[in-house]
Amino acid sequence: MITVRDLDVHYGDLQVLWDVSLDVRDDDSVVVIVGPNGAGKTTLLKTLSGVLTPTDGEIRLFDTPTSTLSASDIVRRGFVHVPEKRNLFGDLSVYENLRMGSYTQRDDFEATRQEVVEMFPVLEERRDQKASTLSGGEQQMLAIGRGLMAKPKVLALDEPSGALAPQLAERVFQKIDTISDDVTVILVEQHVDQALGLADRAYLLENGRIATEGTGRELLESEHVRESYLSG
Ligand SMILES: Nc1ncnc2c1ncn2[C@@H]1O[C@H](COP(=O)(O)OP(=O)(O)OP(=O)(O)O)[C@@H](O)[C@H]1O
Ligand SMILES: [Mg+2]
Repeated sequence: MITVRDLDVHYGDLQVLWDVSLDVRDDDSVVVIVGPNGAGKTTLLKTLSGVLTPTDGEIRLFDTPTSTLSASDIVRRGFVHVPEKRNLFGDLSVYENLRMGSYTQRDDFEATRQEVVEMFPVLEERRDQKASTLSGGEQQMLAIGRGLMAKPKVLALDEPSGALAPQLAERVFQKIDTISDDVTVILVEQHVDQALGLADRAYLLENGRIATEGTGRELLESEHVRESYLSG
């Protein structure tokens, strides 16, 4: 689905990603990217979604080099990125935010919305409430729901459990597990333990480079991951 080869990304003169290669395969349900603050995880997702342009290397999305695609082409082809900061339209209602998410899939709006509110019933209960007045957990559900409205083949989630209480984070992980039955999920997380538990493939990004890769289980069992990222 996605192949990334030897990717370099800079912000101006500052290089943030070096030689990053990774694969998301058709039969992967969840591909996890973990790593410490500032490692370049968000930068990697922004580059995959066409928001940032790499200085070297190649990304192929369903066999097409993304250098030939605009950010909205990338969404249309089925890669949807739910950003770290959620980017909800705070003054718009839940319903209207879902509508914005379906801009590439207008015709299927109501049928898709029904599927999304079935997964996240709170988005029906709060249908007319302004997004800015939702709780943090509800906003996260809305951000994911809005991503699903574009009917992605690959859904990239940047720290969906970020800033949520442990119980809520656990619920988000359960939802991701369900979503991944139908949609391939790329999950960037700081909750290393839970994220790796869901992962078919996983990558550890450190200082802008892939430090370790393998199955979720391999990373969970790796001494380096255990010592640096897991407590006990
Ligand atoms: N717009 C920008 N301009 C310059 N430097 C940036 C910009 N955005 C990010 N960086 C730098 O790039 C590096 C990687 O940042 P990035 O946000 O990708 O890390 P991250 O792994 O997502 O971290 P976190 O876990 O804190 O979200 C950091 O050193 C950051 O300061
Ligand atoms: Mg980040």
